[in-house]
Formats: sequence, C-alpha cells, structure tokens
Amino acid sequence: MTADGRKVEAEGVPGQRLLEVGQNIGMPLEGTCEGQMACSTCHVIVAAEWFDRLAGAADDEEDMLDLAAGVTRTSRLSCQIVLSEELDGLEVRIPEESRDMQGR
Ligand code: FES
Repeated sequence: MTADGRKVEAEGVPGQRLLEVGQNIGMPLEGTCEGQMACSTCHVIVAAEWFDRLAGAADDEEDMLDLAAGVTRTSRLSCQIVLSEELDGLEVRIPEESRDMQGR
C-alpha cells in the first residue's frame, strides 16, 4: 500500500527481496545501500497480521530502523525481507516520510 492509502499489487518470485519487488512497480523505495543495511530508505511498515510471520530482524536491521523516519512496531527494512511461498499475500505499507525524502 502506498503512503496515501492506494493499494498496489506486486508479483515477486521466491528468493527475491521485497525491496526489488517494490521498486519494480515504482514504489518510492530508494534502497540506497542496496541491501547492506547502511541506509533505511527501504523502510516499509508490515501489516500487523503478517509481521510475526516474517523471519525476525537482525540486530543490525533493528539499529538501522531506529534511524528511519516514521518507524512503527511493525517496521522492517524491505531489503531484508526475502520472499517465499509462505509470504504469498504479504501486505506492507510505504511510510509517509519516504515521500519527503524524495522531495515529493
Ligand atoms: Fe539500505 Fe535496505 S537498502 S537498508
């Protein structure tokens, strides 16, 4: 879901990172560090019902999330979410602040 509440569907393949899937459909996920956990521009907010079904965040990811704008309890870095069959239907939201970073 986009920051303004629009719902967008994306298709990914198992093993693909959520960041790439989002970028492929034009979501404003910069992913500046390309998955090195050195930025936080790939921050997404995971739907509560999906959050617990994801593999837990590593300490480095938690540290990076602490620096991200608009963080919530179910925030994750989309470069650290690897798609699998089990995650079919996963819902995430693009945080509002990421639009500002792009100057929109
Ligand atoms: Fe930089 Fe995910 S792309 S932390």
